Amino acid sequence: MAMLSASLSGPKSAASYSSPHFSGLRRLCSKLDSNTSHSFLRHFNSQLRVSSLRKPSRNVVAMAGTGTFFVGGNWKCNGTKESITKLVSDLNDAKLEADVDVVVAPPFPYIDQVKASLTDRIEISAQNSWVGKGGAFTGEISVEQLKDIGCKWVILGHSERRHIIGENNEFIGKKAAYALSQGLGVIACIGELLEEREAGKTFDVCFEQLKAFADAVPSWENIVIAYEPVWAIGTGKVATPLQAQEVHVAVRDWLKKNVSEEVASKTRIIYGGSVNGGNCAELAKQEDIDGFLVGGASLKGPEFATIINSATSKKVAA
Ligand code: PGA
Repeated sequence: MAMLSASLSGPKSAASYSSPHFSGLRRLCSKLDSNTSHSFLRHFNSQLRVSSLRKPSRNVVAMAGTGTFFVGGNWKCNGTKESITKLVSDLNDAKLEADVDVVVAPPFPYIDQVKASLTDRIEISAQNSWVGKGGAFTGEISVEQLKDIGCKWVILGHSERRHIIGENNEFIGKKAAYALSQGLGVIACIGELLEEREAGKTFDVCFEQLKAFADAVPSWENIVIAYEPVWAIGTGKVATPLQAQEVHVAVRDWLKKNVSEEVASKTRIIYGGSVNGGNCAELAKQEDIDGFLVGGASLKGPEFATIINSATSKKVAA
């Protein structure tokens, strides 16, 4: 881990930084909202890079980000009225940690059914939206319609839409801008193909996809970034915690350099790609992993609950 952080940001001495303050699972960062001093920000952001060199504070593993842990379930093109009734009932019965934002993205035809039967504790996301106002666009679903049926979020830039349907960066950026302009939150997906990783282009690809979002959106306030390496999606081949952490650190660093320090600390960067009940705890311990976007395992209520509750694995034994 130490080598990883150093290789991404240059050598720094962990000993030269004092201990951060914590509230619950995360550092206290209220000063970022008001009375932010430059020296505090410099100190805070230096922590983004060196915190993995520190020993965890008592009871707590550091979180580099300041947002609430976020877990999304992407049901993709799966389910029937019957199977979704069972899944909703399992989710309604599940005991979920309080300090986690939870969202599920049912297929369009079932959103209404889910909205009417699922606990309000869990918000609803769409899996896609049209790029502008609705109208003569056969087969599309508008942001206005999604809002009308109670959606709070939309997943955009998912690799299946990039690589199977053929959506490009510019189109995805425009969709994000429009969804945000109408008040939907955006789960903005990025991630490299296997051949891109093998060619050493992981960061280039992710940064280009991030830039397309950054160029299009006026604010990052309502955006959660989902890093989903394409080779890990639906393959059972999860990224190792260190592989995921390495990219999450780089994404946060990119936000810091290209957007702002505040956005870098506040934006949730969640991981997706073969997350399940067995691997979520180790992934969640990584300090730049602020949650998960879950496909296959989100179709099983109890397992999805385990993944949601893995937020607690950021706590370590005293
Ligand atoms: P998976 O899908 O968990 O089935 O790999 C993740 C996703 O596509 O969001």
